[in-house]
Amino acid sequence: MRNQHSMLFSSVIAATVLASTQAYGESEHFGKTADGQDVEVYTLKNESGAIVKLITLGATLTEMHVPDKDGKSADVVLGFDDVAGYQSEDNQYFGVTAGRVANRIAKGKFSLNGKDYTLAVNNEPNHLHGGVKRSLDKVIWKAKEVKTKLGVGVRFSYTSPDGEEGYPGKLHVSVTYILSNKRNSVRINYTAKTDQPTPVNLTNHSYFNLAGAGSKTVLGHTLTIAADKYTPTDDTLIPTGKIESVEGTDLDFREPTRIGKRIKSLDDTAAIGYDHNYVLTRQDVKAGELAVAARLRDPKSGRILVVRTTEPGIQFYSGNFLKDQKGKGGKTYAHRSALCLETQHYPDSINHPNFPSVVLKPGETYKHVCVYSFTAK
Ligand code: GAL
Repeated sequence: MRNQHSMLFSSVIAATVLASTQAYGESEHFGKTADGQDVEVYTLKNESGAIVKLITLGATLTEMHVPDKDGKSADVVLGFDDVAGYQSEDNQYFGVTAGRVANRIAKGKFSLNGKDYTLAVNNEPNHLHGGVKRSLDKVIWKAKEVKTKLGVGVRFSYTSPDGEEGYPGKLHVSVTYILSNKRNSVRINYTAKTDQPTPVNLTNHSYFNLAGAGSKTVLGHTLTIAADKYTPTDDTLIPTGKIESVEGTDLDFREPTRIGKRIKSLDDTAAIGYDHNYVLTRQDVKAGELAVAARLRDPKSGRILVVRTTEPGIQFYSGNFLKDQKGKGGKTYAHRSALCLETQHYPDSINHPNFPSVVLKPGETYKHVCVYSFTAK
């Protein structure tokens, strides 16, 4: 059941866009949450055959269909077929907008302007991805289709009240996904405004397997990360505060490297594989401008993902905690069968004054752009 606004939008788009570019956006009912709230799904298509689906629960990217080197399309992100899947224990933040503060805050504690704050500890002994019940991945966002020169998209917005999940300030957040008409790229624009100083660090938590979601492993993918340095962590995955060189470590991805090449040496670490924040080099790129952060390639399908961002860091997580859960189309998501490349500020920045600040103040606008571009050869 489509809402009226979407129907109107769809017909306007159909008339004006389909004729020229064949790109359009439309929404349908996806299902209901356990407490009876409606969840809508939006579909975006472009003239090169890419299809993107997004839902209002968690402003989540649920599907991303892109062609391989022979033109054969596959869905390259993990997800579920229904709302119940997204609300289940099996959902390890698949495709969601994570926040208010993505990744970990040590022991769920921080101080700001002389006041101490305590957040939920949901990843012993730390706070992870914004909390438990009302983190940004778990709430229903308002959605509105947008049409830009680049392509059609959906603008999700949500107002988080003062004190939600323990964070100070009323926070207005918006996340806009745009599928480019010409290229198979999804641009994610984040903005946020607050009425009190508060930490903000948003990211998209898509899990990619370029051979298609549900394929056995990503260990054969080749990865390049544009970073000379990373933030080492303790055995609870909290940064020690140091910034160290990747040179001579198993974390060095400055040259294209097969993910499986050295991962064994990380088996017995707290991360059980790659789960590290890289400090992006951003050489000669001004603040606020996009820089290439990572490039991922699956040799079999030839699919290539390039990640560009305005952010200073990227979390490379090799799907170590995936646990054979059943996802879309009954496919199984095994240990290391997908990976995340999360553009962000560094984890636990609020407790590390030497890291770039995540504090947003009244009158300022949080801005973050992340672009996932797909090609194949
Ligand atoms: C990642 C994080 C991992 C894990 C995962 C969700 O962003 O780095 O440690 O918590 O999310 O399962």
